[in-house]
Amino acid sequence: MFRLLLRRLRPLSGPPGLLSVRSARSFSGCPPELSAAGIRSTFLDFFRQKHGHLLVPSSPVRPRGDPSLLFVNAGMNQFKPIFLGTVDPRSDMASYRRVVNSQKCVRAGGKHNDLEDVGRDVYHHTFFEMLGNWSFGDYFKEEACLMAWSLLTEHYGIPADRLYVSYFAGDAASGLTADEDTRQIWLDIGVPPSHLLPFGLKENFWEMGDSGPCGPCTEIHYDHVGGRDAASLVNADSPDVVEIWNLVFMQYNREVDNSLRLLPQFSVDTGMGLERLVSVLQGKRSNYDTDLFTPLIHDIHQRSRVGPYSGRMGAADHGKVDMAYRVVSDHIRTLSVCIADGVHPGMSGAELVLRRILRRAVRFCVEVLQAPQGALASLVPTVVHTLGDVYPELHREADRIMDVINENEDHFLSSLQQGSRLIHRTLNKMDYKHGVFPASVAWSLHRDLGFPLDLVDLILEEKGVQVDPQELDRLIAENHKVASGEQSGERSQVMLDILSLAELQRLAVPHTDDGLKYQYRLDQDRYSTRTDSHLHR
Ligand code: ALA
Repeated sequence: MFRLLLRRLRPLSGPPGLLSVRSARSFSGCPPELSAAGIRSTFLDFFRQKHGHLLVPSSPVRPRGDPSLLFVNAGMNQFKPIFLGTVDPRSDMASYRRVVNSQKCVRAGGKHNDLEDVGRDVYHHTFFEMLGNWSFGDYFKEEACLMAWSLLTEHYGIPADRLYVSYFAGDAASGLTADEDTRQIWLDIGVPPSHLLPFGLKENFWEMGDSGPCGPCTEIHYDHVGGRDAASLVNADSPDVVEIWNLVFMQYNREVDNSLRLLPQFSVDTGMGLERLVSVLQGKRSNYDTDLFTPLIHDIHQRSRVGPYSGRMGAADHGKVDMAYRVVSDHIRTLSVCIADGVHPGMSGAELVLRRILRRAVRFCVEVLQAPQGALASLVPTVVHTLGDVYPELHREADRIMDVINENEDHFLSSLQQGSRLIHRTLNKMDYKHGVFPASVAWSLHRDLGFPLDLVDLILEEKGVQVDPQELDRLIAENHKVASGEQSGERSQVMLDILSLAELQRLAVPHTDDGLKYQYRLDQDRYSTRTDSHLHR
């Protein structure tokens, strides 16, 4: 496969894009074309130079102006206003027709949450890079499928018989018919019927969140083994048959009342996980064995007091040592990218999720890998080394990222010590039955001593004891009656008027000119708008 790939990776030339993707750098001795950096730039160049797409930089992982999301979880997030028809017509985005990018994504909360799988398997991550191409009212299903197939089989040289394609089978309850157009397109491309599989809403109808743009999708899956009929392993959680590329045909908006409404224009939104693609092209069964992770795994070993990573999973992974390597290498990438983008470990929303990620990483580092305090932050330069060329903010923010991680680790470890002492003293004194710890004690630790509840859970977990969940919920609800409900109000406001806007455009109602809000000047001691200044002159 590799020889084929090298032969087919034609150098593509053309005008420079918005994002400068520097030349590939190899960490594991593989040729530059086969390094993650080379694979990433082949994708971007294919769409940019061969198919006239504009290269748009990744947005930060903190979503801007979208309360329905904790983190950016897909390449399409930054383009949501285009799908919905709410884009400011004077912005650059309004002119986008064909776009390509490599987006930093975090899936650790909300609808798309992979946190629990990380470390347990070898292909889920809290942070990953999503390679994507988009058509906004330009090409649709046929061209999208043709381009994807050509890139995978001709340019990357993946044997077609290792690929399986799923398409939307329809859903009678939602009034959605099967996507027969897409099935026919794949048959025309040459995908045999035995590799073309219908699936329902869960697998083949992609939705950004509880509300927002959505539509039927067609997914391309890769069989790591080959030479067999692997159709039954598609969408079956097999580590050997994994989805690599999702092509979504955005046709609807999921409203807050759960109904589906047709969008003003149809678009294409695709996403391919770079880490999985790299594992396919580097011939690795695990993402952690690719050059995106091996430098980190190597450096973790240098700092640990356990044996080297050996890729074991489940019961074979004694003491969860290999899981710890995977968790720490995944989480340090997430921490670095989030902190660089201004999301710090904290007490609510995305910040709270990041705090959990940091604590999980610290515990695996200290308790399982037996690494000294400070080891986690010392991995940041390796993250910068592997990702900094594509996401330069990592270079700029490296020192700050390390400081934030160290401060939080320090705080966490001393809380852990103090909390453990208090909880153990309580456990010794009290008569707790059936492994249930009284919620009133956990709550007073939290309320009176500021001790985080998730930390109480963590410490009790080791003793096989659990806080009484119903009683704790009741106490929390009593104390936080006002905390919920804020977001739903914001959400319905965001989703309010997609179709009304399309109708206003159809009637040629001019856009409100907000320019005067921003084009003001300070004349001596008073602010004036541009209009005022004209009048004063
Ligand atoms: N938005 C689609 C996804 O995230 C491509 O899978």
